[in-house]
Amino acid sequence: MTDQAGKLRTLVKNRISTEKTGTENGALDTNPPTKPHFICITSGKGGVGKTNFSINLGIALTRQGMRTLVIDADFGLANVDVVLGTITKYTFMNLMDENLSVENILGEGPEGLKIISGGSGLLNVLDMSEEKLQRIIQRFNELNTLFDIVIIDTGAGLTKNILSFVNASDETILVTTPEPTSLTDAYAMIKAISREPERTKVSVVVNRAETHEEADQNFEKLLNASMKFLNFPIHSLGIILDDYRVKKSVQLQVPFLIKYPNSIASRNVELISRKVLNHNIDDAPHEVKESNFVKRFINIFK
Ligand SMILES: Nc1ncnc2c1ncn2[C@@H]1O[C@H](COP(=O)(O)OP(=O)(O)OP(=O)(O)O)[C@@H](O)[C@H]1O
Ligand SMILES: [Mg+2]
Repeated sequence: MTDQAGKLRTLVKNRISTEKTGTENGALDTNPPTKPHFICITSGKGGVGKTNFSINLGIALTRQGMRTLVIDADFGLANVDVVLGTITKYTFMNLMDENLSVENILGEGPEGLKIISGGSGLLNVLDMSEEKLQRIIQRFNELNTLFDIVIIDTGAGLTKNILSFVNASDETILVTTPEPTSLTDAYAMIKAISREPERTKVSVVVNRAETHEEADQNFEKLLNASMKFLNFPIHSLGIILDDYRVKKSVQLQVPFLIKYPNSIASRNVELISRKVLNHNIDDAPHEVKESNFVKRFINIFK
């Protein structure tokens, strides 16, 4: 880790903390928080590119010195493992295992990116005794010192589980393609999020557009509908153009940022990653979440 990377990390943490504590004038906090920034990646419609985006965003953030974790929270298929060509040995439930440290259950992704499979264990928390819950919360807190950013790759659609991840996260990135059905489902998702008491900040990534204009027009449509009917502002985080090298990289099980670093998709994701690090300064204030992710997650389910 270079000095520069260390400084950037502190800066980002301070920005997030400044926002969370409502400190004016953006002065640096002398006590940087140890909580990572939780980003939930979701979509209305399936197959729009969430998992590829999550992993490549994770790599881009890691390259900028952010200690980044991707949690695979899609309970169906092992999405992240498929894209990376890896087999994660442990799941979230292994946090209960006294013989394993938190570091032990983290899977090694490329370039220092860490991976953890949520497995269905993330949902088992609902049936746990209070004692076990406290243990999970305590163990999960150990992650706080290890990461700056945690990306949660969810499944698609309006399920209670996915909304719980959204509500527990600090921000949500909603991925959509320009397809009308994808946009309609994205709007339905925004509507659902806007009705939750948490009103989590929603940023949109338009993936697989043919041109920048097409992507911008689609974002505008979503923004207009969201403001007009829901009075809920959404933020544009950028676009990823349709790029055949994404499909090729999936076939090769090597993320496109690594296999095709100069591809359009890679450059688009790099730009988005820089926005992720900067947007806490630029955007309008949004709901502030104080307690820890797992506590929020459990409370929402209870
Ligand atoms: N920018 C892009 N250009 C071209 N093809 C893309 C792009 N993004 C995604 N794809 C294609 O879409 C496929 C599905 O992507 P991915 O698995 O990331 O979607 P997902 O939203 O995670 O799906 P699911 O909802 O099933 O979890 C990829 O295998 C790839 O072929
Ligand atoms: Mg996926």
